[in-house]
Amino acid sequence: DNATSETAVFLADDAGLTNAAKVLSDGGLVAFPTETVYGLGADARRSDAVAGIYAAKGRPSFNPLIVHVADLAAAEALVTFTPQAYRLAQAFWPGALTLVLPLRPDAGISTLVTAGLTTLAVRVPDHPVAQGLLRAFGGPVAAPSANPSGRISPTTAAHVMAGLAGRIGGVVDGGACGVGVESTIVDVTGDPVLLRAGGVAAEALEAALGQPLSRPSGTAAITAPGMLASHYAPQGTVRLDATHARPGEVMLGFGPVAGDLTLSAAGDLVEAATNLFDRLHQLDAMGAQAIAVAPVPEHGLGAAINDRLRRAAAPRS
Ligand code: TXA
Ligand code: MG
Repeated sequence: DNATSETAVFLADDAGLTNAAKVLSDGGLVAFPTETVYGLGADARRSDAVAGIYAAKGRPSFNPLIVHVADLAAAEALVTFTPQAYRLAQAFWPGALTLVLPLRPDAGISTLVTAGLTTLAVRVPDHPVAQGLLRAFGGPVAAPSANPSGRISPTTAAHVMAGLAGRIGGVVDGGACGVGVESTIVDVTGDPVLLRAGGVAAEALEAALGQPLSRPSGTAAITAPGMLASHYAPQGTVRLDATHARPGEVMLGFGPVAGDLTLSAAGDLVEAATNLFDRLHQLDAMGAQAIAVAPVPEHGLGAAINDRLRRAAAPRS
């Protein structure tokens, strides 16, 4: 939160992870790669450290954060598992799935992480660098995506530096993220509810659960308060479901719809998810003022891609 300090770039080796863990132990902020996007980490037990996340991101309000731990046993120390939660954890952890569960009173998590809720969002990431950092640090790490509030999520260390250099202690450079969209969030405190489409397809979750996921109704209270309309926004305006660029537009293609850039020329949704945020960052770097985006099918990872694209296209506040 010292806007004039230098941000260290750590290599993803033993020395780099040791130094990054030291920043966390000192109450500082370190960005690190996960298989979904880069996270901006702080010690989840320290309110002073967690407050730094909100300051660095310029996040307007205290939205609850996801806590990252190295394994199921560490998660069990923080939250009370339900049978469906065990089923999902066994099938998809480590991985791009976040579970919302009742917070244990003895968990020791800062109330700034939960924003005062009685539940906690937890995830065991699959990325070897995230695993290495969690093990070197040895505690729970609160981490939202490592971008300024309202901007495009980062999938490389360069994206993190472009948005947050000088505002955070360091970033561990682990290359490009493989999945490319944030984790799927499921509330498993009761009947499973899909709070956010993400890196694990809803169809796969339903197959593992043996039951359909319910969706929060549009009029219900916002249970994932970070999920507000204008989010993931590039600088330019965004027009969805476009088959041709209009004059002045830069075209982002998919499959048979060619573009100046493409999410996936082959029409592969996994590849498109991996590329999504990098393409939006590229459009910003090109200075694109108006962006037309090809239609993307809604199944599998397409649900998460379309969710992010709709937010990018939403009116800016
Ligand atoms: O892939 C990801 O999930 C990335 C990487 C870094 O792990 N993290 C991420 O965090 O996307 P963030 O802060 O950008 O999104 C967290 C979402 C927010 O929409 C927040 O409202 C929701 O999780 N959330 C956190 N705790 C919650 C809770 N107890 N109940 C409901 N929603 C919660
Ligand atoms: Mg985010």
